[in-house]
Amino acid sequence: MSGVSWPIENELNEIKEIVSAMAGRGPEEVRVVVSPYRICPLGAHIDHQGGTVSAMTINKGILLGFIPSDDTEVILRSGQFKGEVRFSVDEVQQPRPIRKKGESHATDSPKLQEAGNWGNFARGAVYALQSRGISLTQGITGYICGSEGLDSSGLSSSAAAGVAYLLAFETANNLTMTPTENIEYDRLIENEYLGLKNGILDQSAILLSSHGFLTHMNCKTKEHKLVPSPKQSNFQKSYKILLAFSGLRNALTNSPGYNLRVVECHEAARILLKASGNDNLEPRLCNVDPEAYETHKGLLEPNLAKRAEHYFSENMRVMKGLEAWASGNLEEFGKLISASGLSSIQNYECCEPLQQLYEILLRAPGVYGTRFSGAGFRGCCLAFVDANLAEEAVTFVTEEYQKAQPKHASQIFTEKAALICDAGDCARVI
Ligand code: GLA
Repeated sequence: MSGVSWPIENELNEIKEIVSAMAGRGPEEVRVVVSPYRICPLGAHIDHQGGTVSAMTINKGILLGFIPSDDTEVILRSGQFKGEVRFSVDEVQQPRPIRKKGESHATDSPKLQEAGNWGNFARGAVYALQSRGISLTQGITGYICGSEGLDSSGLSSSAAAGVAYLLAFETANNLTMTPTENIEYDRLIENEYLGLKNGILDQSAILLSSHGFLTHMNCKTKEHKLVPSPKQSNFQKSYKILLAFSGLRNALTNSPGYNLRVVECHEAARILLKASGNDNLEPRLCNVDPEAYETHKGLLEPNLAKRAEHYFSENMRVMKGLEAWASGNLEEFGKLISASGLSSIQNYECCEPLQQLYEILLRAPGVYGTRFSGAGFRGCCLAFVDANLAEEAVTFVTEEYQKAQPKHASQIFTEKAALICDAGDCARVI
């Protein structure tokens, strides 16, 4: 697709060779699912409450090469994880909720799932289709591989894997699904099969984004639109997306957890709805009228008040951000992103370990705005940065983070603490 530099021909050929050797068939028979990672410039942690979010994909992600089996068998290998996964698509799949103790999180990449369990996303995809009455007859022989070092970084490697398996199984079984249907199937993988109470931001971004546009998703109505960037003066070339890594990839086990925050938001919604005489509505913050929030917010105890404040202020930042993007005002867009980062630190309280990285990025040359990426708690911060100063910003962040957090910095998979990338396209089968 025009303007998108990933995947490159060599990567595709390598994957085709591996699958062809696994299946004993010709490389020309191998199809490849391209499933990009996503960023969410504005709209943090409000998707599960029916808020409005913004998103785009990047030119990194997951590739899944596959050939339909001649029977129901699934055989999978991975570029990152050990072992071979084997099962049959006609086995009935049952949910495997995440473990309570330690609060493991389904948006962790397959790597953080129990050893040998990386195949859960493939089983989860079969579960999702089965639970909507679709029985598969064709398995696949496949090889899955993610861009180096980017799993568990808050870029949604888990939704990228879920979407990749859905598209592969559907293609192998000659099923044509709309993006909306696949958004729902991936929701079933995460919410039901894995037990994470997350929203639909990740898979919507992966399935709906288009290069050059900002995806705007209303998570209550499920309506979306693609907001074009200005055509004038090569806008797309004027900025880069910078990902700065914290070196923390396992910290979720020590954190209060994603699901806990979701429960707090529901509780805040329940109190506000009751106070405004609307307790017949589902307790999600999108069902609370902003005016009712202003009138009754004094009823919320401090933690719940902060979560609600994050929700309502973040929705407003998204709306302002869409305007700033459409008019090509990167300064304003960036300011809103940094304000979102601050609210995630102060109100949503989900990214304390990333705070130093965020503060370093605020001082880095050319940075328009920055915030943590993904669920917070660990992973990376994203920044929109002036393309001409992007390299300088990488050097600055690398040096400063090394000084601030030498131990965490030593855990980062590259020598530099940050990586520059560009916008990507939607998931597709090639
Ligand atoms: C994770 C979840 C998403 C969303 C983000 C935070 O990526 O999977 O549903 O809540 O965190 O915005």
